[in-house]
Amino acid sequence: MFAQSLDLGPRSEFIRDVRKGLGDTRQKQLPCTYLYDEIGAALFEAITLLPEYGLTRADARLLENHASELARCLPDAIVVAELGSGSGRKTRWVLEALAKRRPLDYFPIDISHSALVKCRGELGRLERVRMTELELSYLDGLREVMGRRKRGQRLLLLFLGSTIGNFEHAEAHEFLKAIRAHLAPGDALLLGTDLVKPVPQLLAAYNDPTGVTAAFNLNLLARINHDLGGEFVLTNFEHEAVYNPAERRIEMYLRSTSRQRARIREAGMTITLKSGETIWTESSHKYQLQDVRELSERTGFRLEAQWVDEEWPFAETLLLAGS
Ligand code: AVI
Repeated sequence: MFAQSLDLGPRSEFIRDVRKGLGDTRQKQLPCTYLYDEIGAALFEAITLLPEYGLTRADARLLENHASELARCLPDAIVVAELGSGSGRKTRWVLEALAKRRPLDYFPIDISHSALVKCRGELGRLERVRMTELELSYLDGLREVMGRRKRGQRLLLLFLGSTIGNFEHAEAHEFLKAIRAHLAPGDALLLGTDLVKPVPQLLAAYNDPTGVTAAFNLNLLARINHDLGGEFVLTNFEHEAVYNPAERRIEMYLRSTSRQRARIREAGMTITLKSGETIWTESSHKYQLQDVRELSERTGFRLEAQWVDEEWPFAETLLLAGS
């Protein structure tokens, strides 16, 4: 699975990834980033409200309950940037706690324009917080923030919601190393990771009975139809989410319910699927606390503090860039 892509135009990148992923004769796959078009982002928002999906509420609860403690771990002269800000709702607690001490610059970084608009709606009127949206990829945005911060200011970088869980372990490692390379010693990263929990609880979260996650997954084919002239018949596919214990991750698939062919005009290809064949659309890795510590130490960070939600095992870890 691959969550990141190179720097082509977004459309030709999509075509390239569809050709590569659906042309694979062993296991067809698509990068999970394409789940988030306008409709996919709205469906994901709905997922976060599902009673079975406790991840986002745990993330928000930890930030609400520990924001003051987090602020005490950080110097006063600090700017905040956030990778993949989404709507920014849960970031409010962190910004409020830090802005109590002195006015604050906040840079949400997201490639989605509509996410940044929502983020402004949610956080744009916070007192003593000056927000500057950066419609850029994660690392380009981070580079921009580093160029804009003033002498003597530290950075707090937020990477919340367990988005890191959607990266393969090797990708997560490379990504944290790349982040570390942009930071100065003493800068901080607050990393949200969903933790291993009982399998029935995980399966329910990704196979919700209302079918919202199924719609989120199937929408990827609708997006290919809409954006690339695809001819997928969505009713010929089923959503499937399984837990892979060896890799400690949920794997999401679209399973073909019959033998079928679908043309994708813009990609210049026709794909053939056997009955029962799957397209792998997402992995969601579940961490153990020890994994987070090891990952951070291997990528040039030191674990400064960690908060864990008891209701829905999830960790918020404050990492400091080492010298
Ligand atoms: C965004 N990401 C952390 C979610 C997750 O749980 O891996 C995406 C998601 N996929 C299905 N439900 C939610």
